[in-house]
Amino acid sequence: MSGRAPDLAPAESPDALRRAFSCFPSGVVAVCAHENGEAFVGMAASSFSTVSLDPPLVSVCVQNTSTTWPRLRSRQVIGVSVFAHDQSELCRQLAGPAPQRFDGVDLLCTDGGALFVAGAAAHLLCELHAEYAGGDHTVVLLRIRSLSANPDVDPLVFHASTFRRLTIDPAAEGAVTGTTS
Ligand SMILES: Cc1cc2nc3c(=O)[nH]c(=O)nc-3n(C[C@H](O)[C@H](O)[C@H](O)COP(=O)(O)O)c2cc1C
Repeated sequence: MSGRAPDLAPAESPDALRRAFSCFPSGVVAVCAHENGEAFVGMAASSFSTVSLDPPLVSVCVQNTSTTWPRLRSRQVIGVSVFAHDQSELCRQLAGPAPQRFDGVDLLCTDGGALFVAGAAAHLLCELHAEYAGGDHTVVLLRIRSLSANPDVDPLVFHASTFRRLTIDPAAEGAVTGTTS
C-alpha cells in the first residue's frame, strides 16, 4: 500500500531544517577541559553521537563560529559528560555566556586536563582524533581513552527545542541487540 507523498519544503529553508532536525531526539553532553585545576573551557552539545567500538570513537559537530572549540581542540585531553535528566539548568549554563559557564558547577578534574561534570550518566576521557568540514559545522571525532558509565542514571533528552526525560514503554521494553550502544 502506498500513500500520498508528504508536503516537502525546500531544504534551503533554515526554519524548515531546524524544525526537521528538532524531531530527532538526542542526549546532550558537556565537552570540557581544564589546565592545572583552572582555565576551564567547555560547551554543551546535542550533536554527540557514538561512532565506533574499535577504535573507540564518538563525534560532536561544532559550529564554525564557536569561540570555545578553537580553545578546546588544542588541549591534550577533553572530558565528555553525558548530562543526567536533572541537569537541564546546568546544560543551559554550559551553553550560556562563557565567563559564567562554570560558576557554582560541581566539577571533576583529571590529572591530564579532562574536565567532567559531576553526576553525569557517563564520563568519557577523550583525545582529538580527526576533524572534517561539515558545512557550517566541523565534525569532530574524539577517541575515548578511558571511561565510566552508569546506564541506570536517566539521561537528559533534547527534543523539539526543549528538554525531556525518558520513560519506559512496557510494551516495547526488552534488550535490543546488534547496536554499538
Ligand atoms: C541544548 C543545546 C545543544 C547544543 N548543541 C550544540 C552542538 O551540538 N554544537 C555546537 O556547536 N553548539 C551547540 N550548542 C551551543 C553551544 O553550547 C554554545 O552555546 C555555542 O558553542 C556558542 O558558544 P561558544 O562561542 O563559546 O562556542 C548547544 C546549545 C544547547 C543549549
